[in-house]
Amino acid sequence: MYVAQSLNLPPSHVFGVATFYSFFKLKAPGEHVIIGCLGTACYVRGVEQIMRAIEREFNIKRGESTPDGKLSLFVTRCIGACAMAPSIVIDGEVIGKATPETVLNRVRVLLGGVKAEAR
Ligand code: FES
Repeated sequence: MYVAQSLNLPPSHVFGVATFYSFFKLKAPGEHVIIGCLGTACYVRGVEQIMRAIEREFNIKRGESTPDGKLSLFVTRCIGACAMAPSIVIDGEVIGKATPETVLNRVRVLLGGVKAEAR
């Protein structure tokens, strides 16, 4: 509302722009941010299984943050790393050829729960 009033635009116009671009957020993100790429290459190579594994393990839904504010989960479309699909971004770092196990392990370490497994 503040932005709309400042720009002398209808709130619906500002909301439309803010929700069109995936990097604009309407709520403050958590301490750690996971972004799953749901572009075509990532989708056909299994990003959906990774997203479901994250949702299950950390009891979080896409577009939301955990109640403690430690973790947020978002989705986007192609991030330009199709050759490494499926791609997940964790705190700004692109994880290519991601699997549910590698992503869950990285996030567990970030949250301080479990030490990284040897690769
Ligand atoms: S579709 Fe995911 S990086 Fe291009």
